[in-house]
Amino acid sequence: MGSSDDSDIDPLPALRRRLEAATQAAFPEEAGTDPLLHRSAHADYQADLALALGRRLERNPREVAAAIGEKLAPDEVLAEASVSGPGFINLTLRPEFIAGRLAAMAADPALGVAAATPETVVVDYSAPNVAKEMHVGHLRSTVIGDALVRLLERQGHRIVRQNHIGDWGTPFGMLMEHLADEQGTGGEAGVRELGALYRAARAKFDADPAFAERARRRVVLLQSGDEATLALWRGVIEISIAHCSSIYERLGITLRPADVAGESHYNQLLPEVVAELEAKGLARPSEGAICVFPPGFTGREGQPVPLIVRKQDGGYGYATTDLAALRHRVRDLAAERLVYVVGAPQTQHLAMVFATGRLAGWITDAVRVEHVPFGSVLGPDKKMLKTRSGEPLPLSALIDEAIERAEKVVAEKAGELDPQARSAIAAAVGVGAIKYADLSSDRIKDYVFDWNRMLAFDGNTAPYLMYAHARIRSLLRKAEGAGAGPPVLAAPEERALGLELLQLGPTVARTAESLQPHRMCGFLYQLATTFTAFYESCPVLKAEEPARGSRLALCELTARTLALGLDLLGIAAPEQM
Ligand code: ARG
Repeated sequence: MGSSDDSDIDPLPALRRRLEAATQAAFPEEAGTDPLLHRSAHADYQADLALALGRRLERNPREVAAAIGEKLAPDEVLAEASVSGPGFINLTLRPEFIAGRLAAMAADPALGVAAATPETVVVDYSAPNVAKEMHVGHLRSTVIGDALVRLLERQGHRIVRQNHIGDWGTPFGMLMEHLADEQGTGGEAGVRELGALYRAARAKFDADPAFAERARRRVVLLQSGDEATLALWRGVIEISIAHCSSIYERLGITLRPADVAGESHYNQLLPEVVAELEAKGLARPSEGAICVFPPGFTGREGQPVPLIVRKQDGGYGYATTDLAALRHRVRDLAAERLVYVVGAPQTQHLAMVFATGRLAGWITDAVRVEHVPFGSVLGPDKKMLKTRSGEPLPLSALIDEAIERAEKVVAEKAGELDPQARSAIAAAVGVGAIKYADLSSDRIKDYVFDWNRMLAFDGNTAPYLMYAHARIRSLLRKAEGAGAGPPVLAAPEERALGLELLQLGPTVARTAESLQPHRMCGFLYQLATTFTAFYESCPVLKAEEPARGSRLALCELTARTLALGLDLLGIAAPEQM
């Protein structure tokens, strides 16, 4: 076994090759068996294949494990293989090998995060309905989507962000009619906050039937392309996008106005999309509407569920817009992978849109389409998070409160910093806490929004990770650039930290594949706790060489790994806290 092909920073491929060769030597006819290798608390790595193999061969798994283990000769990668439990093969790596991989990781500006074969990935995320200001209901798509975009971009993919804002339909009639009224009186509604604008329009709509009627007529005017109405609409959209941009900026979200391709974007294309579906024999009249009935979607009584592509009144809705967007993304944006970061309640809708896209031939086998669903943000009462008056909580208020609360906790931790530095850190901690709380929970589940927990300096939180990073940076500053030597992994805590660091690359790959940011959070938390255990038992600055240089190298690599991981989640890692 030559060392030439053991050059991955991740030790797994080298171990896999050895397991496969040993399995082939012991059981030639079972050569292709997956070794089921994973990191383990009981050894560096563990292979579980003997259990399945034993069942298939009708042999005692321990014997099978022993037979494979015998063929695993120690070499420059593997120090030892032993059988444990009912037939696990425990693998111990040579410390020099781990150290070599760590040195390679440290020498790599990408820290061993491998580039994937680049694909054009269209990511649909954030997508607020913009008649009112952004609220907590828009948080998850925005935060999760941006983390996924950062991650995929880091792997070298071409990312096309698509902000499919809800910028069309009935709420705009109300807003535009209100704007038209204000213009008549010389008001300056155009520069006002969108929320205030919406509330005023809404109040008028509820109180004044004549206004409500005019608002309805406005929608018809908009849809028929009336120029004066379109001008008002553009004004509203401009205010909306400016508002969203300010929220994105405060949250450190990478969406730009150029990424907006809202529902209105597809308006012109809708008749043509329906015509194409009809021509392909996919859409047909049903109860006065035109519908697609993709196979496999049935209601409670087994009746086919329609995807309505043209309503009875001749209008087009959300589904038709999504079909037009899908076609555009594949045909014009050349998407090879499509990622929709949209709440779980829209699972059926998107599945039907995707099924229709396949039937229409827009999605071929060469295109991967994924819905990334997520649960809700709940208040302490386990209901959707709301303001006291029962409105969805505006994101601007949420961010204000996060920063205000972070200022208090940061003042306790970093009292000696100057006020300006401290308030920058508080902003980073407050925003980081909100984002991390969202990203670290399994996205499919609902989670309870809990200020105290997300701002705690212990546990799986942003402040904990940010502080761990800042503390290492401060230690490195104290070392005053003392040359960090090659790692020597003598103590078990050094070895554990070294092995953990090597998991960065595989974690990025797994997170990008599963589109589950909580995997990255879990890794960072594990890394930070492994570092703490190391730091508690291995003195750094007071150690003698070569341990000192080695430990400084481990510290430095840990700090870089934490910063990179947080950056992939869209969270800042200040140098000091
Ligand atoms: N605006 C929609 C909403 O707030 C989300 C849009 C998601 N993207 C899509 N292509 N349907 O529910």
